[in-house]
Amino acid sequence: MGKVYVFDHPLIQHKLTYIRDKSTGTKEFRELVDEVATLMAFEITRDLPLKEVEVETPVCMAKSKVLSGKKLGIIPILRAGIGMVEGILKLIPAAKVGHIGLYRDPETLTPVEYYVKLPSDVEERDFIVVDPMLATGGSAVEAINSLKKRGAKHIKFMCLIAAPEGVEEVKKNHPDVDIYIAALDEKLNDHGYIVPGLGDAGDRLFGTK
Ligand code: PRP
Ligand code: URA
Repeated sequence: MGKVYVFDHPLIQHKLTYIRDKSTGTKEFRELVDEVATLMAFEITRDLPLKEVEVETPVCMAKSKVLSGKKLGIIPILRAGIGMVEGILKLIPAAKVGHIGLYRDPETLTPVEYYVKLPSDVEERDFIVVDPMLATGGSAVEAINSLKKRGAKHIKFMCLIAAPEGVEEVKKNHPDVDIYIAALDEKLNDHGYIVPGLGDAGDRLFGTK
């Protein structure tokens, strides 16, 4: 069964408070999401494999370590996932970025896929699917379905705020996927919004509405 990690790092929690605050404007919101994505990327890459190499320092030869293992792919779920990409790339600049476009039908809350563009070597990469919000879980499950259908085998899911319902939905449909969360909130409201949440992530990031 996939594991669920809730990051309790003080910097992540501090910045998340201002992300939640409804008086935080678009510019600051975007900067904070970017910063939290970087901090989360630091935690999520904790288990990347290393290999030993030799390096010549100004003093002598030394054994040291570099990353080994598979290449990484970052998959933002459009739109709001885009806000997390640059923050992750600051730490893993060699990662390729694919995009999966989904929106929630406002009536049924079911995800509708409208765009998929992935790196060509899907089968050779490990993926991190990113979206600020995991609400009903429909979008995350569909994005992971879409990736698996095209050959992806190792997938992690990373979000800022999750509802318990969304976590259960991903665990049920994708028990092989580990989930990384900055905050696990209380519940969903009748409109499928996370309570207390941060409101509409896409609208707050891009200043729409
Ligand atoms: C939001 C959010 C997630 C989705 C989560 O996107 O960014 O993708 O809702 O909800 P779920 O877990 O119930 O599927 P939205 O559908 O509002 O589209 P947008 O990013 O284009 O605004
Ligand atoms: N999508 C959002 O942007 N916010 C929520 O609270 C739920 C889904």
